[in-house]
Amino acid sequence: ATEAEQKDLVIIGGGVAGYVAAIKAGQEGLKVTCIEKRGTLGGTCLNVGCIPSKSLLNNSHLYHQILHDSKHRGIEVGDVKLNLDQLMKAKDTSVTGLTKGVEYLFKKNGVEYIKGTGSFQDDHTIKVALNDGGETSVSGKNIIIATGSEASPFPGLEIDEKRVVSSTGALSLAKVPESLAVIGGGIIGLEMASVWSRLGAKVTVIEFMDQIGGPGMDTEVAKSIQKILKKQGINFKTSTKVVNGDTSSEKVKLNLDAAKGGKEESLDADVVLVAIGRRPYTGGLGLENTSVEVDERGRVVIDSEYRTKVPHIRCVGDVTFGPMLAHKAEEEAVAVIEYIKKGYGHVNYGCIPSVMYTFPEVAWVGQSEQDLKKAGIKYRVGTFPFSANSRAKTNLDTDGMVKMIADPETDRLLGVHIVGPNAGEMIAEGTLALEYGASCEDIARTCHAHPTLAEAFKEAAMATYSKPIHM
Ligand code: FAD
Ligand code: NAI
Repeated sequence: ATEAEQKDLVIIGGGVAGYVAAIKAGQEGLKVTCIEKRGTLGGTCLNVGCIPSKSLLNNSHLYHQILHDSKHRGIEVGDVKLNLDQLMKAKDTSVTGLTKGVEYLFKKNGVEYIKGTGSFQDDHTIKVALNDGGETSVSGKNIIIATGSEASPFPGLEIDEKRVVSSTGALSLAKVPESLAVIGGGIIGLEMASVWSRLGAKVTVIEFMDQIGGPGMDTEVAKSIQKILKKQGINFKTSTKVVNGDTSSEKVKLNLDAAKGGKEESLDADVVLVAIGRRPYTGGLGLENTSVEVDERGRVVIDSEYRTKVPHIRCVGDVTFGPMLAHKAEEEAVAVIEYIKKGYGHVNYGCIPSVMYTFPEVAWVGQSEQDLKKAGIKYRVGTFPFSANSRAKTNLDTDGMVKMIADPETDRLLGVHIVGPNAGEMIAEGTLALEYGASCEDIARTCHAHPTLAEAFKEAAMATYSKPIHM
């Protein structure tokens, strides 16, 4: 090992949390090193998460639309064929372009990038097993843990990324399976179910809870998107638990049980996707050589300034508390550098949007109706369906609605929930309104261009305290 060189900041992990912190630190003039073992930057998000999944979602949607949703629009096409290799290549091109882009930004901002696996030797020194062989060590006045998360395993069903896959395998299947069973109807499950169902697989989603969409999705919205996805051909088994699986035959067999006791059944599938959540990743990090604490769910314990129990070691992103989302990791990454450099920073955890990129998309920010009921908070709801919105009608895409929740006394916006085309873009307006403490009347009195889907947003706001015009 070479003599440890003291940096202002050493970051372990080059995912969204780590790379954004590194760039921000470089911009702030800190001497910074980022250690990443994957061989490319961008972490889960750029390599095997947000970006490749959205490439497959976008292109599988186009394929499906050409096949099933073009004739009545006046477009008749001949011989439509799927070229799965090319679809995967298009995905890889997007991924490579973006990961290389981060590498360029590292150079531009003077960030030292070490390709290797970092592990703590003590509170100050990190040993790095270099990807190219050999090792080195670095030490930092400040250290950030940004090692992210990994798919939670399903006990007894080993992931081989071919027949039993995690999201990573589901992003790279070599052929369209005849049948796909998805364990877990959360966001990963539903996005991947959409991709493979559109490409021709018979897809069944098995969900333990009585609603799909994972934690946080408004119940009314979850019911609405389930109906729409069912119409698209995806089968659902809700309130159903996968008990175990058997891979010894040609097909993978899943044994199912009604979640609240009752009927047992089994399901055979060519490929099974395990999408039952993700867990913090600290494997091989050597935390046992430090006083850093993790909680019972493996999350690194931090205070409000992202400090672990060792004050100069901080932690951000999926490996600590909060939603496992790329934009949450990014906000924390900027804030943690501000804490290190200036002593203050800020993330508003009440105002982090969520988007599920199915078609139509589902997006929300703030509180759901069930959250408010549970907390005993009074609220008022305004909804507006896309079937009454001129742009949605023009586009022949009228499934879905905007639902707005407001405080009945002050009219302050408490939550926005959208199922609809472009919901993921539209939620930015809801997020801004929530961040600025807008009332629904503020939104309804803001002029929205016509004809746009965003007019449904304005009319849902109107519906919370008055009547919408177009309904
Ligand atoms: P990660 O991105 O996991 O990065 C951590 C990095 O640390 C990894 O590259 C890892 O190799 C490296 N590392 C770990 N240990 C070490 C070590 N000891 N030494 C060196 N390097 C190490 N979020 C969204 O907001 N929108 C989406 O559309 C979305 N889609 C997703 C789709 C899928 C299929 C998946 C799986 C996730 C998706 N996410 C999405 C979640 C998003 O990817 C994560 O929230 C985000 O990547 C978290 O960033 P992070 O930097 O904390 O962790
Ligand atoms: P999730 O927590 O969203 O959903 C997992 C689902 O599996 C839950 O609904 C749960 O009830 C169910 N489940 C658990 N055990 C089960 C069993 N034995 N049988 C049947 N169902 C079972 O987790 P998911 O979908 O794996 O995603 C992990 C995280 O990745 C998300 O929480 C999100 O933070 C991130 N992500 C974000 C995306 C986005 O923003 N568009 C896309 C993909 C992932």
